[in-house]
Amino acid sequence: MEKKSILLGLGLFLCSITIQVNSEYHSERSIHSLHLKEKVTRLHFYIFDILSGNKPTAVEVAHPNITVGPKATPFGHVYAIDDPLREGPNESSKLIGNAQGLYLSSSQSENLTIVMYADFGFTTGKFKGSSISVFSRNPVSEPIRELAVVGGRGKFRLARGFAQVKTHFFDYKNGDAILEYNVTLLHY
Ligand SMILES: *[C@@H]1O[C@H](CO)[C@@H](O)[C@H](O)[C@H]1NC(C)=O
Ligand SMILES: *[C@@H]1O[C@H](CO)[C@@H](O)[C@H](O)[C@H]1NC(C)=O
Ligand SMILES: *[C@@H]1O[C@H](CO)[C@@H](O)[C@H](O)[C@H]1NC(C)=O
Ligand SMILES: *[C@@H]1O[C@H](CO)[C@@H](O)[C@H](O)[C@H]1NC(C)=O
Repeated sequence: MEKKSILLGLGLFLCSITIQVNSEYHSERSIHSLHLKEKVTRLHFYIFDILSGNKPTAVEVAHPNITVGPKATPFGHVYAIDDPLREGPNESSKLIGNAQGLYLSSSQSENLTIVMYADFGFTTGKFKGSSISVFSRNPVSEPIRELAVVGGRGKFRLARGFAQVKTHFFDYKNGDAILEYNVTLLHY
């Protein structure tokens, strides 16, 4: 009698384990159990956003059929980018990565504001293969603007932070620009 109930108990116990493993798609644990240590990383680089010539790094992919806002880049114009990131402002400076994504002319006022949806990836050095995600308003006419960094990949997994951006060079005729970025990141 006792043996039977032990076996029955064991059977139910195994059953309940099996059911639990098969029926749950999630589990929880404390962040402390991961033994993560948060650190601060600063990045300094220049992005080359080139619209002119036969090898532009930014191309217009969509625009509305009305013209409102900034003259050169009216409200609603969307650009796809694959912009090189370099250590310095000279086009012969060392290439360290690229920013891929989109930006949108987002203001109906005459002051150009863009919203950026871009992944800044690094191709050399300590952060090779890692990238940060910028999803932010960028009021281009302000001397120094701040962009939000909302995440990252690889060594920048779970990153958050901000970028301070200054225009180093801008050609009013063709829209080519070189921008200086200082990025402050919290990550693990
Ligand atoms: C823009 O497109 C809309 C929808 O097709 C149309 O109704 C409107 O007349 C167009 N406006 C201009 C200025 O072409
Ligand atoms: C970039 O560097 C090259 C070689 O050092 C130099 O000749 C050129 O003037 C520099 N360009 C700019 C815009 O500083
Ligand atoms: C556009 O920028 C100028 C100069 O910074 C400023 O005086 C003006 O208020 C801005 N206009 C709008 C609509 O934000
Ligand atoms: C970035 O930081 C350097 C060093 O502190 C400073 O000289 C430069 O003006 C800063 N640039 C921006 C865009 O914040």
